[in-house]
Amino acid sequence: VTKLRFAPDLITWQKEFGRHTLPWQNTRDPYRVWLSEIMLQQTQVVTVIDYYARFLQRFPSVTELAQADQDEVLGLWSGLGYYSRARNLHRCAQQVLALHGGEFPSTSEQLQTLPGIGPSTAAAIASFCFAERVAILDGNVKRVLTRLMAFDGDMAEGAAVRQLQLIANDLLPEKNLTQNMPRYTQGLMDLGATLCTRSKPACPSCPVREICLGFATGTPEQYPIKTKK
Ligand code: ADE
Repeated sequence: VTKLRFAPDLITWQKEFGRHTLPWQNTRDPYRVWLSEIMLQQTQVVTVIDYYARFLQRFPSVTELAQADQDEVLGLWSGLGYYSRARNLHRCAQQVLALHGGEFPSTSEQLQTLPGIGPSTAAAIASFCFAERVAILDGNVKRVLTRLMAFDGDMAEGAAVRQLQLIANDLLPEKNLTQNMPRYTQGLMDLGATLCTRSKPACPSCPVREICLGFATGTPEQYPIKTKK
């Protein structure tokens, strides 16, 4: 029943209660989605909003970004931290221009060949922009899914993360509903950010409370389980 209900219930909830007005939503331009996902990897939404606007004003497309000096890119990044992100961002733009004619590739698999784009970021871009049926698994989503399944694997272990990835793949909307992929992916992000928070999750408002095994334990906050490493 979990597999049957999760995606439809999440999608219905996202329509009514999810976030719809963030600056990188309501676009299918992979350049804009990519830029937002890289900025959001280690930085909070409120901080990203201003940086994102300044970046797009100076670099309206991947071509302008690719042709800029690295110093200017780093300058516009200054304050966001994790500067390897900015260097990879610039290298990625240059590769999109040089190897793909200025158009981002349209599959998660191809996107992962680019600098700074890992599996989850590739899945986010491909699901938002091209409605590809692929599962994201960032920190927020790991929390949502370990709770949903009362998953006892240790997230510090690669084998447990790979097992959770299989669960994430299994929970995707049915193949005949792939047009819902952007909303499904956004719903996962929104649930993790707004209700299924690290401490004091808002279970009474959760659309999947009735199928959530973590909620059934009475202490969903125990998930995800993660030892040191
Ligand atoms: N964090 C990562 N991607 C995001 C998105 N598309 N919307 C809100 N927060 C995010």
